[in-house]
Amino acid sequence: MRMASTDIKSVLVENRVFPPFADIEKNATISGMQAYDDLVKEAQQDPNEFWGRLAKEHLNWTTPFTQVLDESEAPFYKWFSDGELNVSANCLDRHLGTPTENKTAIIFETDDGKVLRVTYRELYDRVCEFANGLKALGYKKGDRAIIYLPMSIEAVVAMQACVRLGMIHSVVFGGFSSKSIHERLVDVGASLVITADEQMRGGKTIALKPAVDEAIATGGCQAVRHVVVYRRTGGNVQWHEGRDLWMHDVCQGQAGPCEPVPVNAEHPLFILYTSGSTGKPKGVQHASAGYLLWASLTVKWAFDAKESDVYWCTADVGWITGHTYIVYGPLAAGVTQVMFEGVPTYPNAGRFWEMIQRHEVSIFYTAPTAIRSLIKAAEAQPECHPRKYDLNSLRIIGSVGEPINPEAWMWYFKEVGRERCPILDTWWQTETGGHMITPLPGVTPLKPGSCTLPLPGIEMAIVDETGTDVKSGTGGFLVVKRPWPAMIRTIWGDPERFKKNYFPPEMKGYYLAGDGAQRDTDGYFWIMGRVDDVLNVSGHRLGTMEIESALVSHSLVAEAAVVGRPDDTTGEAIVAFVVLKRSLPEGDEAAKIAKELRDWVAKEIGPIAKPKDIRFGENLPKTRSGKIMRRLLRNVARGEEITQDVSTLENPTILDQLSQSV
Ligand code: PRX
Repeated sequence: MRMASTDIKSVLVENRVFPPFADIEKNATISGMQAYDDLVKEAQQDPNEFWGRLAKEHLNWTTPFTQVLDESEAPFYKWFSDGELNVSANCLDRHLGTPTENKTAIIFETDDGKVLRVTYRELYDRVCEFANGLKALGYKKGDRAIIYLPMSIEAVVAMQACVRLGMIHSVVFGGFSSKSIHERLVDVGASLVITADEQMRGGKTIALKPAVDEAIATGGCQAVRHVVVYRRTGGNVQWHEGRDLWMHDVCQGQAGPCEPVPVNAEHPLFILYTSGSTGKPKGVQHASAGYLLWASLTVKWAFDAKESDVYWCTADVGWITGHTYIVYGPLAAGVTQVMFEGVPTYPNAGRFWEMIQRHEVSIFYTAPTAIRSLIKAAEAQPECHPRKYDLNSLRIIGSVGEPINPEAWMWYFKEVGRERCPILDTWWQTETGGHMITPLPGVTPLKPGSCTLPLPGIEMAIVDETGTDVKSGTGGFLVVKRPWPAMIRTIWGDPERFKKNYFPPEMKGYYLAGDGAQRDTDGYFWIMGRVDDVLNVSGHRLGTMEIESALVSHSLVAEAAVVGRPDDTTGEAIVAFVVLKRSLPEGDEAAKIAKELRDWVAKEIGPIAKPKDIRFGENLPKTRSGKIMRRLLRNVARGEEITQDVSTLENPTILDQLSQSV
C-alpha cells in the first residue's frame, strides 16, 4: 500500500474555524457539543444498548429482535439477526395514516425542465402496483434483479418494488457499458433486468436498452427471464418477444396493495459493485435492517432533516450516494426531496442554482467535482453565478465523494451558502453504507477541507501498518475499530476477498477503509486520498487494474500501466502509459491510436474510465524483478522531477518517451 502524504500538507495549514450558526444549533436534532458527546459516550459505554435503542426507535419490525450484534463469525458480523422487517414498508407504509401520507415525497425535474410530483401515498401505490406485477411474473424473495435505469421516479419504484418482495437489486449506473452490465448480470445470477428505452441528459438522447440486449447476447445469462422496459422517450427499441415487457404493461391491472414480504434483518438488501485495487469490481453486499437504520438516522442527524425541509441530493441512483441518500434514507425519514434527471450544465451552468430557487431547496448535497466545475463556469459565464439566484431557502449544504479543497469549500460556503449554511463534508464509502465522519450542523465547528469528527457510534482511528494508533499530525491508514450496523456484510460470492480486503490480519480486526488520513490536535480528520490503486475521478471510483485490463484487451496493446494525476476539476485524472505491439507511433498516428484506445476503454467499462492522457513508450519502467515502478510513473504523469534512483532501468530513455503527451 502506498501512503499519499504530499497532498495533505496544503490543507493542514488551514486554520480558519467556523462555529455552528446559532439559529441552526438551536433547532437541530443533535444540538450542541454536549449532546454529541453524550451520544458518543452512550455508544462507547454499551454499544449493544445504544444500537438496540436506535433500531427500536427508528425502524418498524414485524418480528422484534432480541440480539443486537452477533460477533460469533467475525468479521462476518450480524446485526439484529433474529428480527424481521421489510425495508419498503419502512420507507412507505409507515407513513400511511400519518400527516406524511399526503406530503410530496419526490419532486422530479426532467432534463428539459418538466416537473412531476408524487406524494408518499402515490409512491406507495406505484410501488405496490409494480411489485404486484413482478409477483405475477413469478418473482420472489431472494431473486436478483439488475436495474439499469436513468434518474426517474421509476428507478425509485423499481428498487422499492424489488425490496418489497424481498428481491435483491443491483443497480448499474447508466453510464456503464454493456460489458460492465454483463459482468454484473453473470456475477449476481440475475433473473430480471429493469431498464429503459433511452435516457435524456443535457438535451441528448442516450440509448440504454441496446446495452442490455448486447450484455444478454454475450452469453452466460440463462437465468434472465424478463427484461422490463420503462418507456422514457418512446425511441425505437429492438424487441425480444417473450422476454421483453413494457413496465406499464407489467403494472396493468395490478393496482391495490402488495403485502410487503418480511425478511430477516440480515437478508441482503442490495449488491452494488465498486472498484477495488485488484481484479474486477466487487459486489458490495448490504443487509436490510442495519443499512436502513443508518440511512434514515444519518438523514435525521447529519442533514438534520425536518418536516418542512426540501432536500436535494444530486447523485445518481446508480451510486451508493443515490441508494442511501435518495432511495432509502430520505423516504424512511419522510422527507420531501428533489430528484433531477439531467446534468448541472444544461441548459446552462446555473441549473443547480435555478432549481434550488424554483423548489426552495433547504438541504443540498453534491460533489466537489460539480462545485469545482461550476466555479469555473461561473467565472466564464457571470449570468450562471449562484449570486444571480435567490438561494435564501438553503440552510444546510453538503459535499461527498472526494476531498473538497479549502478553496472550493470557501467558494461553496460564501457563494452558495452565503456564509449562513454549514457545509457537511461527509466522508464515507460504498462499503460503509452511510456517513461515517461528518460535521453535525448544530454541533461541529467547521474547518475548510476537514470532514471533522466521526458520528456517534462510529469508532474511527488512524493506525500504522501494524494496526497501532498513530499520534495526531502523523499520517496513517484510516480504520474503523468497531463494527457498525450499515457495514458491508461480504463481497457477493467471494467471502475470502472480503476478509482479505477489509480485515487483513495486521489490522487487528479493524475495518481497513483504504484511505490515508491524519488527525489534528482537535481530533479532526483530514482525508488524504486512497492508499491503494483506486482512483477517484469526479467522485467516481475506478481501479487502475480494471483500466489496464481494458487497455491490454485491445489488439494493438502489449502492456499498459495506469496512474492518477491531480486535476483541478475532476480531482484526479487518468494517465495511461501504453506499450504497443508495433513500433512507437508518432504525430497524427499516435493521436489516432490514442483516440481509438480511449473509445475502447469507454466501450469496455464506460466513458467515465476514459484516460485523459495516453503516453506511448517502447517499454515501461520496471524493477529488476519485473515489477512496474508505479511511483516513478506517478512522478512522470505529474511532470515532477525524478529524484529516485533509476540506474536499474534497462533503458532510461523510455522515461523521456513516457513524458510526452500525445
Ligand atoms: O477515498 C474516499 C473518497 O471516496 C471513496 C469512496 O468511494 P465510493 O465508495 O465510490 O463512495 C463515494 C460516496 C460515499 C473513499 O474511500 N471519499 C468519499 N467521501 C470523501 C472522500 N474523500 C474525502 N472526503 C470525503 N468527504
